[in-house]
Amino acid sequence: MKKKVTKAIFPVAGLGTRFLPATKSVPKEIMTLVDRPLIQYAIDEARAAGITDFIFVTSKGKSALEDYFDRSPELESTLRKSGKDKLLETLKQTYMESGAIAYIRQHKALGLGHAVWCARRLVGDEPFAVILPDDVIAADKPCLQQMVEGYAETGGCMVAAMEVPYEKASSYGVLDIKDDMGTIVSTKGMVEKPKAEDAPSNLAVIGRYILTPSVMKNLGKIDRGAGGELQLTDAIAMELQENREVYGYRFRGQRYDCGSKAGFLQATVAYGLARDDLRDEFSQFLDEMMALQKAAQ
Ligand code: UTP
Repeated sequence: MKKKVTKAIFPVAGLGTRFLPATKSVPKEIMTLVDRPLIQYAIDEARAAGITDFIFVTSKGKSALEDYFDRSPELESTLRKSGKDKLLETLKQTYMESGAIAYIRQHKALGLGHAVWCARRLVGDEPFAVILPDDVIAADKPCLQQMVEGYAETGGCMVAAMEVPYEKASSYGVLDIKDDMGTIVSTKGMVEKPKAEDAPSNLAVIGRYILTPSVMKNLGKIDRGAGGELQLTDAIAMELQENREVYGYRFRGQRYDCGSKAGFLQATVAYGLARDDLRDEFSQFLDEMMALQKAAQ
């Protein structure tokens, strides 16, 4: 029987240079979409998928992230006394059960693969999920939950995948498809950031993974890859070389690349418009802005 996935790694040790100067003092994962930090979206998605152990790989300057999950008794009692029950509920979503959350330090930003490898002792000999909080996915059924259900059928490794324009494939890990079964594809290869002309397909890997313990072992063996970093993609591709299965999962949902400025702005608009308390005022404002833009052209 396949072992249940209960542990998730959140690699948040990157430098976040695309958001400088903000990320000089604010971790990227604390930046907010409407009123919730990116990390809250990631945690909610993991919980919905049945994750009970949350492992953060952090670095220097990320203490705001650790503080975010602390209890705040003063704030709590003030809200309780003033009868602000809804806000109290919102606050409680940030609380984690004692012992459910662990922080590991990545001492040098040597890449995503290295960040994941830093959590090897906490993960042990179990399958595990990896969530990149800067990929935010709006979906009726949360993306990792869809994947956990897919994994229950297939086993092996599973990566979230979506079609991108060929000219953009060089920004992603790209799948070489063996058998396309619709939602799930089996693969025969995986390349990190290929040149557009070398991309084996336009099915790109985005920041959700379910990985086997052997991938963790591979991470200890691989050399630096694209960009001089230890690449998670290379450790997953090694599974294929050793005749183990790697599947792509075409999730249902809209992914926003909140690691980029344009993606973050798009997500802000989408999540703002999705909110009942903001939609009318916000959409009216956007209409006015668009009209002004058109008039100025
Ligand atoms: P990115 O490629 O988005 O890098 O990392 P970054 O440092 O966060 O941002 P930029 O490109 O400088 O603006 C993808 C994910 O991998 C984590 C990041 O925190 C992010 O969640 N990561 C990356 C690490 O944890 N450690 C690393 O050494 C590199």
